[in-house]
Amino acid sequence: MKGKKIILGITGSIAAYKAAYLVRAFIKKGAEVQVVITPAGKEFITPVTLSALTGKPVISEFFTANDGTWHSHVDLGLWADAMVIAPATASTIGKMANGIADNMLITTYLSAKAPVFIAPAMDLDMFAHPTTQHNLDLLRSYGNHIIEPGVGELASHLEGKGRMEEPDKIVEVLERFLASRCDLAGKKIVVTAGPTYEKIDPVRFIGNYSSGKMGFALAEECAERGADVVLIAGPVSQKTVHRSIRRIDVESAREMYDVALSEYPTADAAIMCAAVADYAPEHYSDMKIKRSSDDMILRLRPNPDIAAALGKMKRDNQVLAGFALETDHEEEHALSKMKRKNLDFIVLNSLKDEGAGFRCDTNKVTILKSDGEQIPFDMKPKKEVAADIVSVLGKYLK
Ligand code: C5P
Repeated sequence: MKGKKIILGITGSIAAYKAAYLVRAFIKKGAEVQVVITPAGKEFITPVTLSALTGKPVISEFFTANDGTWHSHVDLGLWADAMVIAPATASTIGKMANGIADNMLITTYLSAKAPVFIAPAMDLDMFAHPTTQHNLDLLRSYGNHIIEPGVGELASHLEGKGRMEEPDKIVEVLERFLASRCDLAGKKIVVTAGPTYEKIDPVRFIGNYSSGKMGFALAEECAERGADVVLIAGPVSQKTVHRSIRRIDVESAREMYDVALSEYPTADAAIMCAAVADYAPEHYSDMKIKRSSDDMILRLRPNPDIAAALGKMKRDNQVLAGFALETDHEEEHALSKMKRKNLDFIVLNSLKDEGAGFRCDTNKVTILKSDGEQIPFDMKPKKEVAADIVSVLGKYLK
C-alpha cells in the first residue's frame, strides 16, 4: 500500500465511526488518504477527527465555505489509485447506481478512473430490499467491487446481514487487489513512443502523424503496475504522469536508436510503439534551402531499425514487443515483421478500422504471438488497450 493514494468516501451510517479506524489502518500501511464525506456523514463523525488523522482537509462541499474555493472532483478522481466508500448507505448506493450527482462524493465517484470498492452498511431489511440488491448488481456490472457486509447485531439491535465489513478486512481486500496490480514490480521496461523527425534543414523535417498517445498509455500502464519505465519519446505534446517513468526526449530515429540500444541491455522488456521514420535525408543543410524553379530531389537513406537491432541483442530472459500499422495484407505483413525483428509478439492495428491508429483516442488491435496464438480485442480507449497489451506482456515476465 506504500505510496498508494486512496479516496475514502464516508456516508451517513452509524458505521461511519469505524472510518476513523479505517483511515488509521490505511495510513499505517503507508497509504495517503483523502476523505470525501457526505453531508449526512458529518452527522456521524466529525471532519476534524478525520483531517487530524489524514493530515488533509476533509472535502464535503463543492465549494469551501467563505473563501469560494472550488474543489475539483475531476482532479480528485484522477489522483487516486483506489476509491473506497465505507460505509456506503442505501441512499449513496442508489445515487451511485443511477448517477445522481448531487454531492461531492458522487461526482468524485463518477470522475474516478481508479477501481472503486463499496462497503455497504445498513439495516438487514434495507440491505435485502430488491431495490438495494438491484442497485448493487448494477454497480457490480459497471466494474465496481462490493465488499459484502457481515452478519451480526446491527445498530437497530436486530440481527442480520448489513454490518459494514471490519476495517482491517477492508484494508486486506485493498492490499490484495493493489498487489495483484503490481505484477511488474522490479521490472525495467523500455517503451518507444511518438514519431521521429528527420531534419532536412533548420526549418524542415520529414515526420508522421503519430501522436504518441498509445505509447504514453503503455508507459503509464506499466508504471501503474509497478515497473520502472524508460519512455523514449519522439516529438509529441503528451505529458507523463507517473513518478516511475523516466522520460528521454529524442528527435530523430538515430537518437532514438542510440538511447534504445543503451537502455535495453539492462531492461526486462521493450515495447516498440514509436512510428520511426524509415528514411532520413542523406544530407542535412545548415542553411535554409532556398526555393527555385527547378525540381528538387531529396536523397534519402534508410534509418536503422531499432526493433530489429534489439531483436538481435535480445537475451532469452528478455521480451520484445512491436507494433504493426498496416493498410493491406495486415496479418501477413505483421507476421513477417515479428519474425524479421525477432519479436515475442506484435500488436497489429489496421488503418482500415475507423477509430484505430494514429491520433485517435481509441484503438482496435489484435495481438499475434510468436507461438502462433492470436488474441483479437474490441475497439477500446487507448488506456484500456494498453492494459490488454501489458497483461499479455506480464505473462511473459512471470
Ligand atoms: O517495419 P515497420 O516500421 O512497419 O515495423 C514496425 C515496428 O518496428 C514498430 O514496433 C516500430 O516501433 C518498430 N520500428 C523500429 N525502428 C524502425 C522502424 C520500425 O523500432 N526504424
